[in-house]
Amino acid sequence: MPPPSTLPARLTVVVPCYNERANVAPLIARLEAALRGIAWEAVFVDDNSPDGTAALVREIAAYDPRIRCLRRIGRRGLSSAVIEGALSSSAEFVAVIDGDMQHDETRLPVMLSRLAAGDGDIAVGSRYVEGGGAGGLAGGFRQRLSRLGIRFAQWFLPTRVSDPMSGFFMMRRARFEKIAPHLAGSGFKILLDLLFNARPPLRVVEIPFEFRAREFGESKLDALVLAQFAGLLIDRLLHGAVPLRFIAFAGVGLIGVVANLVTLALGRGMGLGFSLAQSIATVVAMAVNFQLNNTLTYRDQRLRGARLWRGLTLFMLFCGIGAIADLGIARTLYEDHNSLTVAGAAGAVVAVVWNYAISATLVWRAR
Ligand code: GDD
Ligand code: MN
Repeated sequence: MPPPSTLPARLTVVVPCYNERANVAPLIARLEAALRGIAWEAVFVDDNSPDGTAALVREIAAYDPRIRCLRRIGRRGLSSAVIEGALSSSAEFVAVIDGDMQHDETRLPVMLSRLAAGDGDIAVGSRYVEGGGAGGLAGGFRQRLSRLGIRFAQWFLPTRVSDPMSGFFMMRRARFEKIAPHLAGSGFKILLDLLFNARPPLRVVEIPFEFRAREFGESKLDALVLAQFAGLLIDRLLHGAVPLRFIAFAGVGLIGVVANLVTLALGRGMGLGFSLAQSIATVVAMAVNFQLNNTLTYRDQRLRGARLWRGLTLFMLFCGIGAIADLGIARTLYEDHNSLTVAGAAGAVVAVVWNYAISATLVWRAR
């Protein structure tokens, strides 16, 4: 059992975790060994993992005052977990390390001394500088994906960073708190988010490390996480002028238009009358839109069970009203201007704004 520390922490290590129960105890043992001589604490930010990660952290916290647990309910997301964990700190420095032991905790003291010496505003664990390695990335596909993502991200970055996709870094808490209100906070790439939104740009000091292979549990990176990465870049392009959610919502809307047209064509092909085929197509498009918005746009507030059916009903009802308004506006404009494109576009804009407003306030409203 570790000696209970009474010193206030100088370093808070934020550990985002989802279903990492098997990694919790070994990670704490490694932090303990790596951070000897430093007053540290670790905050595990767990999104209510079904495997009981949070309960295990609390068991350990019961005898080790350096260990804290932040349990979030009804939320998902690596970036937002990191932000909230860092904001729960009162230490001089905050670090972020994955909860699956893929990051090399023995680099933490090096990061701390470089920052303390004033060598940079942020110390970034890098797999792509001399002495680092990405060997632990599962498979050639992940390796290529990682390099492609880095290439993309570098176009947008104010400073040169060889591994902007790293999730392993440290900075002064005061600086983090200044940037926090400007972060997008969605998706997997919190470091990128920080580099994009820090004014003035962060001075980066890169610390090489060898990315290890995962031993226990599995990766949470999937197609939706990649879509969120694209969203972060688009947000950067638009300088944050349009909310990310709206962009996702409009993108989903476009897919809905395609679903509508395809269903309409199928219905007509089967010999249905135009009105009937168009009504069916509208319902299909709304169902497709609802499903995509629930899994993508509002992934962090995904509706399930009874709340899903309630949400679907509300969505269909109000988007149905939106569709009728859209038709009305398009028809009026068409009669006035005689241009199908103008009329159609104006109708579509009104419909997407209306549907978005309803979705944000009624369907996926934060509890
Ligand atoms: N709280 C919370 N909520 N934690 C999460 C969530 C979430 O929704 N999704 C993932 N995590 C935690 C995981 O439990 C793990 O501790 C860490 O975030 C990284 O997730 P992995 O699923 O292991 O991702 P990866 O190995 O593909 O990618 C990681 O390593 C890359 C290379 O350094 C991420 O940290 C990337 O940001 C990083 O670039
Ligand atoms: Mn991992």
